Amino acid sequence: MPIDRELFIFDTTHKLTNHLLKYLLNIAENAIKARGRFIVALAGGKTPIEFYAKLAGFEDLEFWSNVHIFQTDERFVPVDSAESNYRMMKESLLDFVPIPLVNVHPFMTEAKDVQEATRVSQKDMREFFIDLECEPYFDLVILGIGEDGHTASLFPTCLPQNNKELVAVIDNSAIRNQRITLTFEAINKAKNILFLVTGEDKANIMRLILEQNVDVPANRVLVGKGKAVYFLDKDAARRLATPKNFEHDGDAVKVII
Ligand code: 6PG
Repeated sequence: MPIDRELFIFDTTHKLTNHLLKYLLNIAENAIKARGRFIVALAGGKTPIEFYAKLAGFEDLEFWSNVHIFQTDERFVPVDSAESNYRMMKESLLDFVPIPLVNVHPFMTEAKDVQEATRVSQKDMREFFIDLECEPYFDLVILGIGEDGHTASLFPTCLPQNNKELVAVIDNSAIRNQRITLTFEAINKAKNILFLVTGEDKANIMRLILEQNVDVPANRVLVGKGKAVYFLDKDAARRLATPKNFEHDGDAVKVII
């Protein structure tokens, strides 16, 4: 379980995504100032679409030339499949911003099988960081959370075995689509981790995660170090106990956990 947590609750997803845009740009600008680049891993699923569309409105050419986008996970489906996280990211963000194609690092899904795709994806990721002459890390990882507490494609019923890999295959008949996912090893090296969770269907799992410390993959991120930031809309926060210790931070209620 992350030691240090910050929870921000917003009345609407519009206010949440506005705040998240400022949060991401602040991290990005500091990273670019310090290291000349901003390396971010972006979640799949449906929740982030509204945010990606808002981020797509930020069209600064120089900014995007210093941004590198990775995925947190992908389904092993063709890039034009309705199930493809890359297709979702392309249609909501990548098609609208001047990011150089070489700065977009999707997981490989055009391979003979998911094992080959994962091997190539990991090789490419490791080579990217070797070229930068630095340890593999992300300046920011934005993650979603499923109703069962999964995050990326790290599921309670199916976790990668080898803990030193950065990328793993998830292939379990109980899980829709074969998956390629960042591992805890890759995620936990991030300088910043943010969980983006909206909608009443996530209210129960968020109560279990934030108040019962249930042992699910979303609670195994950043075990032992670092800070996890949670951005929830009021529907996803509906089942949390009324916070005793909170402050207003712009459009957000910042809850000290
Ligand atoms: C995926 C995701 C996954 C997602 C959660 C929440 O490939 O589905 O990366 O981890 O973030 O399942 O999904 P929703 O945002 O669609 O609720």
